[in-house]
Amino acid sequence: MNNKLLTTTLFLSLATAGSYAHAADSTPNPEADRQALTKYIMDMHGSTKFNGHPLKVEDFRYGAYVFSEDKFEQLKAAEEFPPYLDHIDAGEKLWKKPFANGKTYATCAGFDGDVKAIRPKYPLFDDARGEVVNLDQAINDCRVANGEKPYAYGSKDKDLDKIMAYLGYQARGKKINVVINSPGALDAYKQGEMLFHTRRGQLNQSCSGCHIASAGRHIRSNILSPIIGHTTHFPTYRANDGDLVSLQARYVGCMKSIRAFPFPANSKELKDIEFYEAFMSSGLEIDAPGYRE
Ligand code: HEC
Repeated sequence: MNNKLLTTTLFLSLATAGSYAHAADSTPNPEADRQALTKYIMDMHGSTKFNGHPLKVEDFRYGAYVFSEDKFEQLKAAEEFPPYLDHIDAGEKLWKKPFANGKTYATCAGFDGDVKAIRPKYPLFDDARGEVVNLDQAINDCRVANGEKPYAYGSKDKDLDKIMAYLGYQARGKKINVVINSPGALDAYKQGEMLFHTRRGQLNQSCSGCHIASAGRHIRSNILSPIIGHTTHFPTYRANDGDLVSLQARYVGCMKSIRAFPFPANSKELKDIEFYEAFMSSGLEIDAPGYRE
């Protein structure tokens, strides 16, 4: 990586960007925050034409691709022969394979019933445990409850990501609907929001500086995606890696890119960020697994 170029580009792109101020009122109101953020981003980008129509909030499931016709054409071409179909098939086999005790994932709480309904339930706030539980963790919890070893988050075999790809594919078209209905859930949301807006790393950048204030701007060869839509399409097939990448691994990657000590995948901090990002993406369609360059 060319450090000097990265720093210069960052300076140029971020120095001129306005900042997004969320509700000044001290009473937390996630829905009011979400509407204000959506308005802020749409005021900035509402005049953008995308795929033959004025940009709509729902289009942000395509991330940064909404800002470039060329890149969107590349995405459409890639989706004609999706490179992740084998991962979905492998994920289905892993999901259906019985554990050593003869049971399957479908016997775990939350996983019984319609397989299409599983992904939209997560992330959720578990009041009994006092923490956010995302789907990756719920899969591991089910394994442990059945005497199996949990998957390591971000491991190279990608088995967990393949199961996530299968469950995400099953839920395509269903909408993100994150529920905040307890003091614990509200606290996790506030923590996620705070972490998202905190500057860190040697480059002293925040998630929001790139993914709110500078969304749509170029940074090196990339265009920055907005926070809205960040959780719709994970795990994502990254063409550069030739493999699936989980949302949590993506967070770790972004933190490394600003030379911050990353919080580990599925740490409390990164789950709170996922909870916040998912809430901000409420109402958007699940479109997993996604494709990104
Ligand atoms: C210096 C700018 C920068 C910072 C700070 C940053 N990112 Fe990113 N992020 C990027 C770039 C560049 C990409 C790839 C282009 C894109 O999709 O936005 C990316 C991609 C992502 C994606 C995938 C988007 C998609 O459509 O697949 C997510 C999710 C994400 N970042 C979350 C975060 C979070 C959470 C933080 C804070 C912990 C963060 N980023 C901090 C630059 C940044």
